[in-house]
Amino acid sequence: MKPAKPISLTRYLIEEQHAGRINADLRLLIEVVARACKTISMSVGKGALGGVLGDAGTGNIQGEAQKKLDVIANDVLLEANAWGGHLAGLASEEMDHSQPIPDAFQRGNYLLLFDPLDGSSNIDVNISVGTIFSVLRCPDGVTSPGDEHFLQPGTTQVCAGYTTYGPSTMLVLTVGHGTHAFTLDREVGSFIMTARDIQIPADTKEFAINMSNQRHWEPPMQRYVADLLAGKDGPRGKDFNMRWVASMVADVHRILTRGGVFFYPLDAKCRDKGGKLRLMYEANPMSFIVEQAGGAASTGRQRMLEVQPTGLHQRVPVMLGSRNEVAEAVRYHAEHD
Ligand code: AHG
Ligand code: MN
Ligand code: MN
Ligand code: MN
Repeated sequence: MKPAKPISLTRYLIEEQHAGRINADLRLLIEVVARACKTISMSVGKGALGGVLGDAGTGNIQGEAQKKLDVIANDVLLEANAWGGHLAGLASEEMDHSQPIPDAFQRGNYLLLFDPLDGSSNIDVNISVGTIFSVLRCPDGVTSPGDEHFLQPGTTQVCAGYTTYGPSTMLVLTVGHGTHAFTLDREVGSFIMTARDIQIPADTKEFAINMSNQRHWEPPMQRYVADLLAGKDGPRGKDFNMRWVASMVADVHRILTRGGVFFYPLDAKCRDKGGKLRLMYEANPMSFIVEQAGGAASTGRQRMLEVQPTGLHQRVPVMLGSRNEVAEAVRYHAEHD
């Protein structure tokens, strides 16, 4: 990552507004999400001392057992965003349906979607987790949006970001003019820009995938990964390293920092659902961030951001990161089909 002049998130957003790249409502929206992420960061950081670890004893629409922090993070984001006047509605991985902003509050023109806590299987073992979010425009004339109004392709996103709660807390953001990273100064309570215009190297020798699913993948994925594993004596002519955190935010953050490719392909276990990762809360925001950093993102058969969503909780195969390596994976799929 390129070092940046250490300006605050607030100053960056004001400069973007003055440059005509965002309006005051979007600036406020991002500030509110960032503030909610600071609260989540505090909860995550307290760990066992805060009584926040372990299962909530409930399930979500994804068919997953919810962790206490899944529920806490969802509540923090809902509460923070309901009354700001910048949103028309919200949708979350943890909620069955989207929620319009209640009549009691002023409504704005944006729709906010989030994965409140990503990588939640890692909470109890003290490994990085995160929050992912995506912002869309509410269609003209719609005052009380329903699920169908959120079903817009990723190309229409006006902003996407994630926060990673790791050794430090970092917010990575795009409003469609590059991808920038901000580190939380815990003493001051501000996000400070620490990398401007992140560029993902076009080539890489590192990939991220859950290898335990290998036997369940489709044939082109099997062949592609077999060729990576064959190393410098194989068709790719170079040795590859592998990493898998099992928190998408942490895996994507590594790719933004030093390059790499991330895969969650279709496999026999998730075929009926269309994939494992969620288009609206995970794949689209991460793909926007990665493309804005010079990387690529695909389902293997289509540019991710051009997928027309058909359901709020729709799942997709995901391949993203260093653009030449994503192109290689896509080529294996095209040759097979
Ligand atoms: P979430 O915790 O929001 O449900 O997302 C988990 C996702 C993603 O963060 C990660 O890349 C993937 O699930 C890990 O899946 P495996 O456990 O199958 O490796
Ligand atoms: Mn989940
Ligand atoms: Mn997730
Ligand atoms: Mn989640």
